[in-house]
Amino acid sequence: MIENRKEEHVRIAENENVTTDHNFWDDIHVIHQAIPEIDFDHIDTEVNILGNRLNFPLIISSMTGGTPLAKRINENLSDAAEKFGIGMGVGSMRAAVEKRELADTYSMLSSKKIPMKMANIGAPQLIPQSKRAFSDGDIEYLFNLIGANFLIIHFNFLQEMVQPEGDRNARGILKRIEEIAGSYPVIAKETGNGFSREAALALRDHGVKAIDVGGVGGTSFAAIEYYRAMKTDDREKMNSGKTFWNWGIPSPASIKYCNVGLPVFGSGGLRNGLDLAKVIMMGGELGGFARSLLKNADQSPHELENQINFIIRDFKVAMFLTGSKNVQELRKARYFVTEPLKSWIMAYEW
Ligand SMILES: Cc1cc2nc3c(=O)[nH]c(=O)nc-3n(C[C@H](O)[C@H](O)[C@H](O)COP(=O)(O)O)c2cc1C
Repeated sequence: MIENRKEEHVRIAENENVTTDHNFWDDIHVIHQAIPEIDFDHIDTEVNILGNRLNFPLIISSMTGGTPLAKRINENLSDAAEKFGIGMGVGSMRAAVEKRELADTYSMLSSKKIPMKMANIGAPQLIPQSKRAFSDGDIEYLFNLIGANFLIIHFNFLQEMVQPEGDRNARGILKRIEEIAGSYPVIAKETGNGFSREAALALRDHGVKAIDVGGVGGTSFAAIEYYRAMKTDDREKMNSGKTFWNWGIPSPASIKYCNVGLPVFGSGGLRNGLDLAKVIMMGGELGGFARSLLKNADQSPHELENQINFIIRDFKVAMFLTGSKNVQELRKARYFVTEPLKSWIMAYEW
């Protein structure tokens, strides 16, 4: 059952070790500017992305929906997104198509003033040969359900390979994305394995408006599915989960690979405001946080607000200590990169 799976994902992400072995944001070292020549209280963090004004270059990455637990989490996340003036994506909305009575686990976003609201569907459900492929009507329903201004199409093929009930087909996706991108502003998003340059070029050439890299360094879906496979003693899937635990492209390297003329969002492994500042320095427009907000969102609105305040404060501290009075200036902050990220970034320059 899809609802059980969604609930299990949240509980496993909260309670088990589901992160990759290395966080590549730590390989970026920012040069401190002892003489900032700006005032902390006059730092301007506002950004404008594809016509949307956000108070901070920050989005809450897609996580959940479809269960009572998800409803509570989405309530808290959407309240915070409205309060802070940041973007938010809901989790995969397949559940709302399969069972219309689950619509209210997502729909609270529609009444809130969130500057960037992102609906979410999975690429595997766009394959024409899939039995459960979304129709144009389904997509319209989901987009309107939350009053979205973007449609995220997430790519999660490693997860499909490790999860017991995973989809095995991927042929024909780009053609379908091009059709959908003719009617909706589409953001292509990975879920923890990153996009290569080849993938980014293909997405651009099929009409996608922005790319959210969702790279390696934080939550590993191979890990999450490993724990689910363990419960049913599915040894084949457990084995694949272990083998591919760290598979994919580091988030900061993927930002560089995806520099193909579209806005790029940096996500995967962001823990704090310094990581967010590094997203901007690497060329990303926005940073997305998923698991680092999940526990707080589950605990209480107050805990979540605190956590976002910490992220924002440290982001501004990083701006201050690099002498950046706005986000544009932060792009020019100096840094250097060490291994293993350095070799990943150079992979396309050989
Ligand atoms: C419990 C959980 C559920 C998720 N569900 C979705 C989803 O439905 N759709 C999606 O695009 N990404 C989903 N993600 C992936 C995140 O949006 C993000 O890309 C990934 O977790 C890496 O970011 P992180 O390291 O900050 O957690 C989920 C993540 C978590 C932790």
